[in-house]
Amino acid sequence: MTLNEIFLARERLLGELDTIATAPELEAFKLSHLTRKGTIAAMFDDLRAVPKEEKPQAGKELNVLRQLVEERFKEKESVLAAGPATPRGSIDLTMPARTVPVPEPGHEHPLAKTLNEMIAIFERLGFAVEYGPEIEDDEHNFSKLNFPPDHPARDMQDTFFVKPSVDWTHADSLPLVLRTHTSPVQIRLMERQKPPIRAIMPGRAFRNEASSARSAVAFFQLEGLVVDRGVSMADLKGVLLSFARQFFGSDVKIRLRPSFFPFTEPSAEVDISCYICGGKGCRVCKNSGWLEILGSGMVHPNVLSACGIDPEVYTGYAFGMGIDRTAMMRYGISDIRDFFENDLRFLEQF
Ligand code: PHE
Repeated sequence: MTLNEIFLARERLLGELDTIATAPELEAFKLSHLTRKGTIAAMFDDLRAVPKEEKPQAGKELNVLRQLVEERFKEKESVLAAGPATPRGSIDLTMPARTVPVPEPGHEHPLAKTLNEMIAIFERLGFAVEYGPEIEDDEHNFSKLNFPPDHPARDMQDTFFVKPSVDWTHADSLPLVLRTHTSPVQIRLMERQKPPIRAIMPGRAFRNEASSARSAVAFFQLEGLVVDRGVSMADLKGVLLSFARQFFGSDVKIRLRPSFFPFTEPSAEVDISCYICGGKGCRVCKNSGWLEILGSGMVHPNVLSACGIDPEVYTGYAFGMGIDRTAMMRYGISDIRDFFENDLRFLEQF
């Protein structure tokens, strides 16, 4: 008996075991191979005839053979004892396990995740969700938002014009623009729907600026608008505080700083207390203890009038925040361009 014969016998016995599907077959296997008079015992007897130098190696391999066959035999025994899990033939219990990795199903982009969370919070606060076009006319992006005709925000530096050559002497040839903010959706909503209005308006906005770690040419904003009888700045503050606590954590404080927007009066920039250091000052808040999250204010009477809503009867507040900026704060992302580069090493972290 050579070593090779031992290997061959091992493969043959294991192969035979593999094909066994019933208890009687297994019993027959045991009788012919695993008893005192079986094949394996006979091979151990044959060891006597193996030359002295090969004996230790042959003995070792025979032991391995016996151990393997006995292990598989026991496995088979318990599988057969457990009985068929499903009707016979539909599943092959002896089939090797699948080793091909199951493809990952994918998941939400960090911006979508942030936006969906914001929408969920505002929906709980009673806000509807509205959308508007990304290509706008001057009237909705600027005029009805109370931008004077010579306001610098209409300047080429900020605005992408869809039709670049313009005859400025003809008002009706004013170009279409890529909306520079989501505020025109406020106008469209107020033109269409009379108060009470309570809605958020998420979407993309565009600005013709050099792209950098902090600003991108295309970015996302979320606008909010509430118009009704007796709406006040206190309502704005309450809603924003509730949002900030749900989104950034229950300890977060907010503060309002006077600011300017043509379409709100008074206007306020809103900061949250830095949720990293709790307001003590750290790298993220540049030691100020505060992080700016949005612009807001009471809707300017001119804006209400331009949409056919009587400012003597109704008041309203509006706010607008950058979704990208907020997501960057929330997840500690330092470069806005990471959102658009589709680098899986970045995206897989969310
Ligand atoms: N539209 C403003 C911007 O893009 C944000 C804003 C919205 C401010 C609503 C006040 C009210 O910066």
